[in-house]
Order: sequence, then structure tokens, then C-alpha cells
Amino acid sequence: MLSVINLVKTYGKQNAVNDISFELQGGEVVGLLGPNGAGKSTTMKCIVGLLRKTSGEITLGGYDHLSVDAKRLFSYIPETPYVYDLLTVYEHMQFVAQAYGVKDWKGQADEYLELFELADKRDKLGRDLSKGMRQKVSICCALLPDPQVLFFDEPMIGLDPKAIKNTKKIFKELKEAGKTILVSTHLIDSVESIADRVMILKNGNIVGNDTISNLKQQFVQEEGTSLEDLFLEMTKDE
Ligand SMILES: Nc1ncnc2c1ncn2[C@@H]1O[C@H](COP(=O)(O)OP(=O)(O)O)[C@@H](O)[C@H]1O
Ligand SMILES: [Mg+2]
Repeated sequence: MLSVINLVKTYGKQNAVNDISFELQGGEVVGLLGPNGAGKSTTMKCIVGLLRKTSGEITLGGYDHLSVDAKRLFSYIPETPYVYDLLTVYEHMQFVAQAYGVKDWKGQADEYLELFELADKRDKLGRDLSKGMRQKVSICCALLPDPQVLFFDEPMIGLDPKAIKNTKKIFKELKEAGKTILVSTHLIDSVESIADRVMILKNGNIVGNDTISNLKQQFVQEEGTSLEDLFLEMTKDE
């Protein structure tokens, strides 16, 4: 579903992403893990076309990632949620529904707004929303077109515990519905229960790409190692 081949992104002289290659099969849920500055956001922004890649080849569903056909397939939830100042919460849903040609969207929109406790905020303007509310609006907008592929960049940051729980629930439902998901996080345990596989980034390189149990076998001998221990072991500075 997603293929990234020899992706390089440099800022000036610095390689933020250093020649990485990976694939996501349809229906896979993959965690993109790594400490701050590892290159997670840069990788995602290059895939969704917000940043121009320095070199490499990226396809989504067989289409070049910058084509309209590719863009029809995915939603992206950025690290810093962007909302329109002068649209209300409900108008955001309406706007997305119209832009993506979503039919009969109202029932689904109401459901998402209810789930994320935005129902009573539906007439609030974007500029009056807190960071957490913006994040929730951003998630609702991404879900509404029912895309095949979802890119979440640090989705749990800024959310309250209830919204974190709901987001995890949504991940489970999306996974059951056969969606392909790439979710970046440095909060390792937030993906442990749903990720089929994790990729660990360090200084722009993929230093691990496997199921959690395989990585544990490969990298740590002791019993009872947590994903967090594994993560720290793999990303430590020599
Ligand atoms: N706009 C930018 N200009 C210059 N350097 C950047 C820019 N954005 C990110 N970087 C650098 O690229 C590296 C990767 O950053 P980023 O992809 O944001 O990491 P992560 O999302 O894993 O925390 C870091 O070293 C960061 O300082
Ligand atoms: Mg980031």
C-alpha cells in the first residue's frame, strides 16, 4: 500500500532522513518510534507531500505520492493541529465532507463529535479552541472521508486521558476495518497493543523494523523486558 525507497531529506547540510526504505502492506498498523529529532515528522511530511523530499521514491497504492490518485487514499493528522480560525467545529466537518465528496456525512460527523466530546462545541470557532480540542477536530476531519491509509504524527500529545482512550479505540476499529496506519510516537506503550510491527528511527536511520516480539528476541536477552526498555536500548548513544 505504501512504498518508500531510498528516502533522503536534508535540511541544509544536515540529513534529517538518511536513505531509508520500508513498505506498509494493506491493513498493517505500524508504529514509527524514535526519540525527539529522529526524523519521524520529516518522514511523514515527505510521504504526504508537505515537504519536498531530497531524493527517493514514494508510492501509495501504486501511485506516485504527489498524484491526486494517491492523495485520495490517505488522511494525515499533523503533530501540530491546524484548524481554520473562522470555521466552527461543525463547519470543519462540512468543509471536509464537501471537499472529499463524502455522501451522507452528517450522521458520521455527529458520531465522531460525540465520541470526542465536541458535540457541545460544534458552534465554536476554530480560533477559540484549545490545543486538545484542535487535535480532536483534526482527528475527526481526517476520519470523515473514511480513507484507506492514515498517517498520525504523535496523535496522543495534547489529548486528555479520555481522548487518548477514544483514540486508541478508534485505532482498533480502523484496524478491524482493514485500514493501513502509520503512527509516530515517542510514547511507546501507546502503540504496543495495536501495532503489528514497529520501525525504530534513530538519527534519520531505521535501526529496527520488525514485530515487537521479534525485536525483543533479537536485542534483549533478559526476561520480562518492556517495549520501553527495548526502545531505550536500541536508541541509546554509543
Ligand atoms: N525545518 C527544519 N529546518 C532545519 N532542520 C529541521 C527542520 N525540521 C526538522 N529539522 C531537524 O531534522 C531532524 C528531524 O526532525 P523531526 O523529523 O522533526 O524529528 P521527530 O519528529 O522524530 O522528532 C532534527 O534534527 C531536526 O532538528
Ligand atoms: Mg515529530
